[in-house]
Amino acid sequence: MKNWKIYLSMLFLILASILYFSDDGQSLAEEKNQEKPLKIGVSLYRGDDEFISSIRHALEEEKLALEKETNRKMTVKILDSKNSQSIQNSQIDQLVRSDYDVIAVNVVDRTVASNIIYKARQAGIPLIFFNREPIQTDLIQWNQAYYIGSKAQESGEMQGELVLEQYRLAPETIDLNRDGKIQYVMLEGEEVHQDSLIRTESSIKTIVEGGVKVERLARGVGNWMRQPSKEFVREWLEKYPNQIELVMSNNDEMAIGAIEALREIPEGMTLPHVVGIDGTSEGLEAVDRGEMLGTVRSDPNEYAREMLTLAKQLVESNEQPIGNGDPYIWIPHQLYQK
Ligand code: BGC
Ligand code: CA
Repeated sequence: MKNWKIYLSMLFLILASILYFSDDGQSLAEEKNQEKPLKIGVSLYRGDDEFISSIRHALEEEKLALEKETNRKMTVKILDSKNSQSIQNSQIDQLVRSDYDVIAVNVVDRTVASNIIYKARQAGIPLIFFNREPIQTDLIQWNQAYYIGSKAQESGEMQGELVLEQYRLAPETIDLNRDGKIQYVMLEGEEVHQDSLIRTESSIKTIVEGGVKVERLARGVGNWMRQPSKEFVREWLEKYPNQIELVMSNNDEMAIGAIEALREIPEGMTLPHVVGIDGTSEGLEAVDRGEMLGTVRSDPNEYAREMLTLAKQLVESNEQPIGNGDPYIWIPHQLYQK
């Protein structure tokens, strides 16, 4: 019987074509794995934060773009912790139980990231922290934990530059009473956030080191939010009528709060300059309208793209460290002014 010879050569052909078509010697198991959608769970510290909600939209956009480019489906589930660490903890438990491939965390309380790292590590699920930076000693506890964010100092310095530039160009437009000093008020973000203190200090330091004297009239913690900031500025305008020359704000939302308060002041009173950080859509519009001197942009689409690309790499690398093993990925800032 010659039949077995025919069978054998057919079998050989089949095997050869399987090997040939499963490109570059990738195993079939790996190939199959790539067809499965990548499951990414995202927990936001609070969904009603303007900048964070712009990252949420960007995640939805970039997901579609990346799926097209890479031909791999992704499921991106986005949860809102409503500013509660205990809600966030149970969300993370839920994502772990539902076998998510990667978990991205915008941690509510950055001092307790170690609990989250411990849980994810136990489950072998890579973690991407973003925008709210864990303490470094926590982050380096696991080589599958990363942080994506923007450098606070860079944003503060660029904000200071904005003011300095305007002062050099036309000092009388800022130093309204011409006493050689800029009288300013400062709107600050959440006290425990890495960006608040550093932006507050480095912006002012840049102005002072640029040779311009400053005098702080008031400061207030607006917690990144518009409404409390508006109330602070209303109060300060009453307390220091015609004296405020500059409103420095740790972010655009609080700057918009200031602008809303400034719109209420009677004609003829002096209008201070306002500067922000983030480049939210309303922030950019305020600059275009001339109500804000400038802002420092941090592009949410860049954030989203880095997050999704890293997530994909983490899953496909099978626990091998990405890049040079550095857990930090920095999103650069850009100045935005008229
Ligand atoms: C942004 C703020 C935002 C905060 C949330 C900061 O980097 O500038 O607008 O509210 O992150 O964590
Ligand atoms: Ca002055």
